[in-house]
Amino acid sequence: MNKQQVRKQIFAGNWKMYTTKREAVELAIGIASGMNIIDREVVLFPPSVYATCVVDACEGTPVKVGLQNMFYEKEGAYTGELSPRMLKDVGAGYVLVGHSERRHIFGETDELIHKKVISAIAFDIIPVLCVGELLEERELGKSESTVESQLIKAFAEIGEQGARKAVIAYEPVWAIGTGKVATPEIAESMHTFIRNTLKKLYNDSVAMTIPVLYGGSVKPDNIAGLYAMPNIDGVLVGGASLTVQSFLDIINVTL
Ligand code: 13P
Repeated sequence: MNKQQVRKQIFAGNWKMYTTKREAVELAIGIASGMNIIDREVVLFPPSVYATCVVDACEGTPVKVGLQNMFYEKEGAYTGELSPRMLKDVGAGYVLVGHSERRHIFGETDELIHKKVISAIAFDIIPVLCVGELLEERELGKSESTVESQLIKAFAEIGEQGARKAVIAYEPVWAIGTGKVATPEIAESMHTFIRNTLKKLYNDSVAMTIPVLYGGSVKPDNIAGLYAMPNIDGVLVGGASLTVQSFLDIINVTL
């Protein structure tokens, strides 16, 4: 069986702290009207303040919307935070958890990320757990141990049923926003390692079910090589998801 028959294939755009309201809506409409492949899920992660507009723009289309972050409590005195209940309320079905910019700029710890994964699953929101090593860690030969530790901590105490709802994004920090994409071989080897770690934490069936996306300088000219790899189940795109044509060129890639 090929990967499309075994796992959901996901092509996601993380808009980070870019776009105006008008640009966000135009981008969503352009993407929804230009996608022509039905064997994959397209998910947009707009800035949270535009979530409702983007959800409205995608209504009646297959395009899904997620948010880039959330807090783990249902509600409370947490100024500036968004709760899983709010995400559900506006129609966001996905959330990015542990993105490297959250880990490294905002100091998010593995413990906090773990609580967010649990909360997302409890609220029936798909967590896209981001993992990946720094350049120093790669150079020291610690890529696998770093990612293994991030996975073990994020999935601690999460049972098989919960784990099956998660998606993982392997985003090597040295490839994010740098134009230095991982080669398909490096990415595939890390994705295989992630799947083997899931096998150890759970079992074969869970490991085969969870989609593992690649992120880090994905562009129209490198998507074909990456997506040809058997363990790359889609991509999480930053910069190239901010223009309709480049994101369409990525999501419409054929195998
Ligand atoms: P770039 O595609 O801009 O490298 O960003 C990747 C990323 O961080 C997606 O979450």
